Amino acid sequence: MNLIVAMSGGSGAQYGLRLIEVLTSLGHEVELVVSDGARKVLDLEVGGDYQSILDKATNIHDVRNIGASIASGTHKNSGMIIVPCSMKTLAAVANGFSQNLIHRAADCMMKEGRKLVLVNRETPLNRIHLKNMLQAQEAGATILPASPGFYYHPKSVDDVINFVVGKVLNVFGIDHNLFKPWDPETAKSRL
Ligand SMILES: Cc1cc2nc3c(=O)[nH]c(=O)nc-3n(C[C@H](O)[C@H](O)[C@H](O)COP(=O)(O)O)c2cc1C
Repeated sequence: MNLIVAMSGGSGAQYGLRLIEVLTSLGHEVELVVSDGARKVLDLEVGGDYQSILDKATNIHDVRNIGASIASGTHKNSGMIIVPCSMKTLAAVANGFSQNLIHRAADCMMKEGRKLVLVNRETPLNRIHLKNMLQAQEAGATILPASPGFYYHPKSVDDVINFVVGKVLNVFGIDHNLFKPWDPETAKSRL
């Protein structure tokens, strides 16, 4: 599969990094766009050598390059994930206000009827956030909040990250081992 992965400046950069790692390790192509806000959050939240993970992408596009291949609906891909999705990027996507390559590529997903997954982390949500989420969902996006489940007994931050990333892969029907499907018997045996 060829998937567009966009990172914007919401908290939760680790979700984007893990998604890139998992998709590329499974042999999928990743067209990556990282906003300036996302780079700031990567520096503050992750630090270290995150660039080596970004470099696993097949192509890294400049967020200002509105003439990039993925700015056109004619680009062949299987969909897009914005992870993390800031409330500013959500607002741009929900209102068709394409100021950068992330917004434009997302606009293309919705106009071409392709999958667009928005992984937002913000909490609490104001009325504007909620209205924008509804508007984006009505235009075809999947709103996938970074809300880990606890019914699978996570033991580490990695488990929590993997749960959210696994839910993203599920939207695209990509098989993974990031978490096991719900099994009531296993759950009972853990108590
Ligand atoms: C450390 C840090 C964490 C942030 N977390 C969030 C967040 O969770 N949600 C959000 O909407 N904005 C968050 N912001 C603010 C956005 O980065 C900011 O609004 C930015 O302009 C978003 O631009 P972008 O969507 O183009 O990346 C955060 C900023 C910083 C520096």
